[in-house]
Amino acid sequence: MNKFGITLAVAGLACSALSFQAIADDNQEVQARAKELGLEFKDGRYRDKEENPAPVVTKDYKVDWATWNGFRRYHDACHVCHGPNALGSTFAPSLGESLETMDYGTFMQVVASGRIADRGGTKYVMPAFGEDRNVMCYIDDIFTYIKARSQNMKEPTTGMPAGRPAGREDISPETKKTAAECFGE
Ligand code: HEC
Repeated sequence: MNKFGITLAVAGLACSALSFQAIADDNQEVQARAKELGLEFKDGRYRDKEENPAPVVTKDYKVDWATWNGFRRYHDACHVCHGPNALGSTFAPSLGESLETMDYGTFMQVVASGRIADRGGTKYVMPAFGEDRNVMCYIDDIFTYIKARSQNMKEPTTGMPAGRPAGREDISPETKKTAAECFGE
């Protein structure tokens, strides 16, 4: 290896050490924030006192794995109708607003069974996702993300603002296992 090659290799090593350090810091920040919020990590996710999935968002908008994954899954499966950032569209309601009053059980029921409304002859269809593993295996993550948006829409100093999270916690082995089991792997 010539001198240039060695410099490159050293720079590469320093770089991967740096990004590893950054991820470790994100994990610590998110975990400290979860403690502040009084959330407990149970069955692969953070939960509130009622054991419902709950988001963790740090001051600089780093999030727990579920909120991060929910952000991606929401924009895969829901945003075509419900609008980006859970803000709603002319066709379907803002789910951020819905979760200000809707509880976890009702949310799950609507997503699994769907709903059809007829307003002045126009049909508004919420599909039933109960058989769709790409949605149902991640539905708690989607709920967690929408909850983070809902908190922010109600009180801008809390929850997650529109857009991509600034960083995220790593996926835990337990979370990975739960998702794999859901897909029957
Ligand atoms: C094809 C369009 C479409 C897609 C895709 C879609 N929805 Fe809906 N959804 C609707 C419509 C339309 C309604 C409102 C039905 C009504 O007026 O009762 C609705 C209603 C809902 C409600 C009830 C809201 C309330 O305030 O009563 C929830 C919860 C919901 N959707 C969740 C989701 C989630 C989560 C996803 C993604 C996994 C999703 N939806 C994907 C069209 C869609």
